[in-house]
Amino acid sequence: MSAGEVAGSRLARMIARLITQRACLEWAAAEIREIDGPVLELGLGKGRTYDHLRRLLPDREILVFDRFVHAPRDCVPPGGTLVLGELRKTVADATARLAGRVALIHADIGSGDRSADSALGADLAPHLAALPRPGGLVLCDRELALDGFDRVPLPPGAADWRYFIYRTPNHEDGDDRP
Ligand SMILES: C[S@@+](CC[C@H](N)C(=O)[O-])C[C@H]1O[C@@H](n2cnc3c(N)ncnc32)[C@H](O)[C@@H]1O
Repeated sequence: MSAGEVAGSRLARMIARLITQRACLEWAAAEIREIDGPVLELGLGKGRTYDHLRRLLPDREILVFDRFVHAPRDCVPPGGTLVLGELRKTVADATARLAGRVALIHADIGSGDRSADSALGADLAPHLAALPRPGGLVLCDRELALDGFDRVPLPPGAADWRYFIYRTPNHEDGDDRP
């Protein structure tokens, strides 16, 4: 740590979170370039990560989920790509339409209430496991139990912040399981 640097303050933790999110999203956007399908952003919030994703992936359909809109007007997703409501319901509905077709899910759903967050993660996990294409990715700010998925280490450039990357086993890639 350099002179004057403070670890662990709210400011330092926010910076670590944002640096990590940026590194993970940029890595993921490059990883899915050859994988077709929409991107799902769970947790529009202030639109920071959505805005970054749409610039990284300008030609990709990005479906954005939240219970309400509190993003700046220029970060509100265009009509038809914003899905409002409780994630347990809206993500289940999306799974019915998009199972096995999604290239990337970014779930930024943390609220600061650890037990509520882990209950939400547990409820969403079966859907997050069903949505991606082979080789598709799930990024989340909370640890998830995704059966059969590989946990991927954080990419270079990530800071000291817990973030979770999972990849579906790629059955099309030399895997001869039925
Ligand atoms: C951490 S914020 C997202 C921050 C955002 N990605 C950004 O970069 O600005 C989490 C968001 O998830 C939403 N959220 C959390 N739990 C939810 C639920 N059960 N149903 C719908 N939305 C939920 C909240 O309303 C909040 O906007």
